[in-house]
Amino acid sequence: MRVVILGSGRGSNAEAILLAQQAGKLGSAQVVQIFADKPDAGILTLGPRFGVPATFLDPAPFKTKLDGAGEEHYIAAITACQPDLIVLAGFMRVIKPRFLEAFAGKVINLHPSLLPSFPGLDGIGQAFRRGVKYTGCTVHEVTAEIDGGPILDQAAVRIEESDTLESLAAKVHAAEHALLPAVIARLSEKSR
Ligand code: GAR
Repeated sequence: MRVVILGSGRGSNAEAILLAQQAGKLGSAQVVQIFADKPDAGILTLGPRFGVPATFLDPAPFKTKLDGAGEEHYIAAITACQPDLIVLAGFMRVIKPRFLEAFAGKVINLHPSLLPSFPGLDGIGQAFRRGVKYTGCTVHEVTAEIDGGPILDQAAVRIEESDTLESLAAKVHAAEHALLPAVIARLSEKSR
């Protein structure tokens, strides 16, 4: 199963996927390409470290969505990778229907809350401020509804009285680093 990862940030989840692959724990999945929409994204440093091509792809002209010329650019570059699965690992842009039609049923997203609670930006901060006792992370199929596609799996994290936003974020990220590679491994076994 050929996997393309898209990200915008530090890339700790892409790193968890690549570490799982190195440890033989990613089933038949293989990361073939990483793309970032920011030239200075930390996720790009994983390329040389893990021997995977990692490239900045210009998303212009929009700031928060992948549309127009940027969308075309991404569709062409990702199609050339012949992907079976596209993983949004901290890719902070709204995905539009044309992209989803080009890769129908192949796009999954990681979100830092127990959806359908706290969709959108800052899922961890939203849960912390609301005072819920459990939050966590979700891996779901991407549809045109933001953070609304079918849920593939979730992991729960308890929010203790002593938790700060920072300690909660660390717990949610640790849960993500276990959940996302496990979902990819499972999908790869299903697709065999
Ligand atoms: C992760 O916490 C992921 O759930 C979140 O961005 C972070 C990326 O971290 N994604 C979203 O909020 C998407 N709406 P990383 O770059 O270290 O993997």
